[in-house]
Amino acid sequence: MYEYSGRALVFGASGGIGQAFSRFLEDKLGSENVVNVSRSFDGFEISDEEKILKFSESIEGSFSLIINATGVLQTTEEGPEKTINVVKQKSMIDMMTINAIGPALLLKNFSKKLDKTKFSVFVNLSARVGSITDNRLGGWISYRSSKAALNQIIKTSSIEINRRNKNAICVGLHPGTVKTRFTEKFQNTTETISPDESVKMMMKVVENLSVDDNGYCFAYDGKVIPA
Ligand SMILES: NC(=O)c1ccc[n+]([C@@H]2O[C@H](COP(=O)([O-])OP(=O)(O)OC[C@H]3O[C@@H](n4cnc5c(N)ncnc54)[C@H](OP(=O)(O)O)[C@@H]3O)[C@@H](O)[C@H]2O)c1
Repeated sequence: MYEYSGRALVFGASGGIGQAFSRFLEDKLGSENVVNVSRSFDGFEISDEEKILKFSESIEGSFSLIINATGVLQTTEEGPEKTINVVKQKSMIDMMTINAIGPALLLKNFSKKLDKTKFSVFVNLSARVGSITDNRLGGWISYRSSKAALNQIIKTSSIEINRRNKNAICVGLHPGTVKTRFTEKFQNTTETISPDESVKMMMKVVENLSVDDNGYCFAYDGKVIPA
């Protein structure tokens, strides 16, 4: 069970969902106990390994909750691919760099900052479309693959994280379809929820997590998303 105590660290605190996490956690823990990091305000670039290392060296102390709310749906103006015929090497590499390799580097550098004295959680925002089992529509190849890779990174590192720190786990969370700039192009055709609603539900999931949930990806309603 995650209890609201200690400190929280939010990456991507400038994004729609990241901002909502910051608001929510500042309210629960006090703003002095929430460290917000973003590209817009702090120059935190997730594709820059050296910068990640420098940030990890500059941020002191431990955290009972670390949230990575960074991520992109597209890396070119054309948007997520509708078919394999339009896949491009460069945009696929960029997607993997931001959505999968960056989070792996965050896990490498920041999971050691998870609190050892109380139950602590490292959350990466994933997506239902990263599920291979649940893929019925096809399309969005780069995005889907980057989130599938992220889910594997979460699972693999979760084993080590919990071995090193018996109080710590790492999970993926799917936020639902949320009204942010991320979904701007689809808001006319798809039903969305607000970032605050999404975060409220995701935090309910976090509150109910236990060590047995280590490595899984959960939707905002608490259901496990199959790999
Ligand atoms: N919205 C949805 O419906 C939805 C659905 C499923 C999953 N998700 C996942 O939820 C997460 C957050 O989505 P959102 O809706 O909040 O999107 P958003 O409003 O577009 O925010 C994205 C965040 O990622 C940061 N970011 C993007 N590229 C970066 C980079 N190269 N280096 C560092 N930071 C970078 C942005 O920083 P700047 O502000 O500085 O650009 C921003 O803080 C993503 O992982 C997404 O895949 C969202």
